[in-house]
Amino acid sequence: IIDHGQHPRTFGEIDNPTFREKGHNPFCGDQLEMFIVVDDDNIITDIKFNGHGCAISMASASMLTEMVIGKKLDYIKGLVDDFNAMLVTQDISDEAKERLGKIAILEGVKQYPSRIKCATLSWHALLNACEGKGTASTE
Ligand code: FES
Repeated sequence: IIDHGQHPRTFGEIDNPTFREKGHNPFCGDQLEMFIVVDDDNIITDIKFNGHGCAISMASASMLTEMVIGKKLDYIKGLVDDFNAMLVTQDISDEAKERLGKIAILEGVKQYPSRIKCATLSWHALLNACEGKGTASTE
């Protein structure tokens, strides 16, 4: 988490992305913006994010963006549902944890409820971008 937070892997912008969306955490005022390129088969071929946020939000965005490259858009909704469930409920299935892969390391964030919005900031933005819903808020 610390390494991804200090050195986000996909930090930056993409010119002419297919989707571009901001995420906003009103609790702290931090914002991230996602840039997503999708091919004709609805597969994410490139993704970057920029903006500012705490180490948890940066690490979460970094791991998320790394993970979804090469995935189809319709895979994103289920992934976000799994992530939200992991942070809000006590348990998720082993299959869901397997889908989340190394991102499941963020499960410990649920012990600090005020930081859950940090972890989900980029996830809301990605989902809204893919669904064309406009700026995402963690509220
Ligand atoms: Fe702002 Fe974490 S404190 S995103």
